[in-house]
Amino acid sequence: MAEALPAPDERAAETSRALAQRIGAAIDAAGGWIGFDCYMEMALYEPGLGYYAAGSRKLGAAGDFVTAPELTPLFGECLAAQCAQWFDQCVPEVLEFGAGSGALAARLLAALAAAGAAPRRYAILELSGELRERQRRTLAEQVPALLDRVDWLDVLPQRIEGVVLANEVLDAMPVRLFAARGGEVLERGVGRAGDAAQFAFADRPADAAFAQRVREALEDAWDAAGEGEYVSEIGEQAQAWVETVGARLVRGAMLLIDYGFPRAEYYHPQRSMGTLQCHYRHRVHGDPFVLPGLQDITAHVDFTAVNRAAQRAGLSTLGYTSQARLLLDCGLLDRFAALPREDTVAWARQAQAVQQLLSEAEMGELFKAIAFGRGMPDDALGFATRDRRGTLG
Ligand SMILES: C[S@@+](CC[C@H](N)C(=O)[O-])C[C@H]1O[C@@H](n2cnc3c(N)ncnc32)[C@H](O)[C@@H]1O
Repeated sequence: MAEALPAPDERAAETSRALAQRIGAAIDAAGGWIGFDCYMEMALYEPGLGYYAAGSRKLGAAGDFVTAPELTPLFGECLAAQCAQWFDQCVPEVLEFGAGSGALAARLLAALAAAGAAPRRYAILELSGELRERQRRTLAEQVPALLDRVDWLDVLPQRIEGVVLANEVLDAMPVRLFAARGGEVLERGVGRAGDAAQFAFADRPADAAFAQRVREALEDAWDAAGEGEYVSEIGEQAQAWVETVGARLVRGAMLLIDYGFPRAEYYHPQRSMGTLQCHYRHRVHGDPFVLPGLQDITAHVDFTAVNRAAQRAGLSTLGYTSQARLLLDCGLLDRFAALPREDTVAWARQAQAVQQLLSEAEMGELFKAIAFGRGMPDDALGFATRDRRGTLG
């Protein structure tokens, strides 16, 4: 598989080698084995070297993947409609996590200002220094008059009021892997591969607490796991993040959009290879050890676990649905119909993006939206017609 991927330039290859050395040292220091979450954390976020911490392009046509806000401004305009409704019910402020290129922030601010509902403050919490700079440039170019309302946070605030947004952030949080075999639960971690500097999966018996979490997750798939090998992942960090942010949300709403499933589908007997995916220059593959630091590594989101984490934080679930339904309920088609058609090429590009956002074969069904609230009415615009809370279990 590695042969089929385009070769990095020498500078990028050097960064990757330096990161591999550091990961190798961490494996040696830990006695030859680290959890996959530790590997993923270093591959994505190791200061100065990880995928999100170093200089690679990441988002966009010249990068490795494209997200919904990059595809079309209509995505941000739909979320602006949802925010405008929530701004009537709580403090009109936004806290966006992992804002990528800043495309969503720029579009949201512009659309809300045009509707006379500009937030008092738009805070961004972004781990990547390189992306922070890109966000600042995007906002300065696209919404210069609103730039003074935007600030970048270094730490999670103790108290959060208003609207919390995170698009494709949970999937970027490190996961722990497991392999269930013959009634036994193993934790799949990472060791060195032979005498080369590269890495390979290595299994060892899971500790009791992790084995218990796996057994709970596999309720429906356990029989299938008994017959062969069932490999998947547990998004412990994403769950802890939702619980922590949720606990600090004193009043307001939290909207999370990402790819994933409710638990029964996530740990379906037939999904026995898990959901780990790597993205490198618009190619998707399953080998997390290729070019560490130069490719994105992601896992789908278990929305049942996310929902339970929010409930532990005392939040109520305001809705759960597909991305397509969320956008339709927020008026995507009317917004699309109102676009000018004089420039047929630009219009066709928007038509294609709308198709990509809505199509069940593309992002429409795989991507889900879930919303939580504290002190908020249960009438969220984006979940008005096809709420699927009942499927979360
Ligand atoms: C796949 S990108 C999505 C970017 C953007 N939201 C979009 O839709 O284009 C994932 C982003 O999440 C950020 N991220 C991951 N974990 C985070 C955390 N715990 N807090 C804040 N940002 C985080 C990464 O730095 C990156 O910007």
